[in-house]
Amino acid sequence: MLPLVKVGLPPSEQLMPSLERVLYSGQIAEGEQVYEFEERFSKHFGLSHVLAMSSGTAALHAALTLSGVSPGDEVISTPMTAEPTNTSILYCGAKVVWADVDPVSGNIDPNSILEKITSKTKAIIVVHYAGYPVRLAEIREIADRHGISLIEDCAHALGAKYDGNSVGLIGDFSIFSFQAIKHMPMVDGGVLICKEERHMRPAKKFRWFGMLKGVPRTEVDITSIGYKYNMNNVVATIGLSQLQVIDARINAFKENGKYFDHELAKIPGLDFAKCDEKGESSYWLYTMLSDTSDEIEKSLAGAGIHASKLHRPNNFHSIFSQSETSLPGLEKFYQRLLHIPCGWWVSAEDRNHIVNALRKG
Ligand SMILES: Cc1ncc(COP(=O)(O)O)c(C=O)c1O
Repeated sequence: MLPLVKVGLPPSEQLMPSLERVLYSGQIAEGEQVYEFEERFSKHFGLSHVLAMSSGTAALHAALTLSGVSPGDEVISTPMTAEPTNTSILYCGAKVVWADVDPVSGNIDPNSILEKITSKTKAIIVVHYAGYPVRLAEIREIADRHGISLIEDCAHALGAKYDGNSVGLIGDFSIFSFQAIKHMPMVDGGVLICKEERHMRPAKKFRWFGMLKGVPRTEVDITSIGYKYNMNNVVATIGLSQLQVIDARINAFKENGKYFDHELAKIPGLDFAKCDEKGESSYWLYTMLSDTSDEIEKSLAGAGIHASKLHRPNNFHSIFSQSETSLPGLEKFYQRLLHIPCGWWVSAEDRNHIVNALRKG
């Protein structure tokens, strides 16, 4: 079966010597490799104020807390995402307010955000779903006009661009995930990006028990809650190795994605996700749309291709039952959605096979 997602690590001969060195170095907690990873990641993707975290979820929790989100506040978010985008809002004791999604892209709809703003709205979380950038310019303008923090969840979108730059540059806070099946797996891990330098000090405290590294442990004074959210040197070493091969990996996702855009446009009854003209997808999941998505999923399985909707709209979970759920855009998108394999493991032959199976289907 051609898989929909796959773990992509650097070649063993590249990764293992550095991994062995760090494992037996006596320095396996947060240290030199973590700070080097932050610096190299920052340069590679043109993003400043980068903090390495234990996961994307930890980074989201930090982003929401640094945005001032606390009990009684509302956060506008999208249900079309992986659950941590929204469970992290509950960590802060805030209410999730669903905005509808644009059925063309599966991304949060700026017009719906506008309708959902109240005096309690503290933040907006946008997700570049499946790697397709949201309409950032419009949403930035809405956030500024209402004095609301904008958080970009870029977990699906490493390598995606908006207006020629990496996603993650426009939000007040942004996060990436390096979980096992993302573009750049590091076993687990994430980064928090703060637009403003002033947030770096509280963010560092937040990721390490409320303390700052470098202050003697016998003198340090904890004044706010912090967590055990730091990255360690072993994970950072995998990340440093990944940064050497990531461009080729991301390009493979993009090449396959563009190929499918071109070929699917010729097949009647099939459509695919599109973002605004400033957005360039990194196609973490290729998003196909069709009124007969369930039948196509079965026929692709018969041809040895794993296709799936992959996510469950988050408003279906009981834990979010307090949040209003009339979301016609989401319903339309989810009914038509089918993700097909698109990553670096999909060869030219594989993608031809997928297109042929779709033509027959
Ligand atoms: C959209 C989205 N946001 C956040 C996360 C959380 O990332 P992590 O698994 O690194 O905690 C994930 C992945 O699981 C995700 O897909």
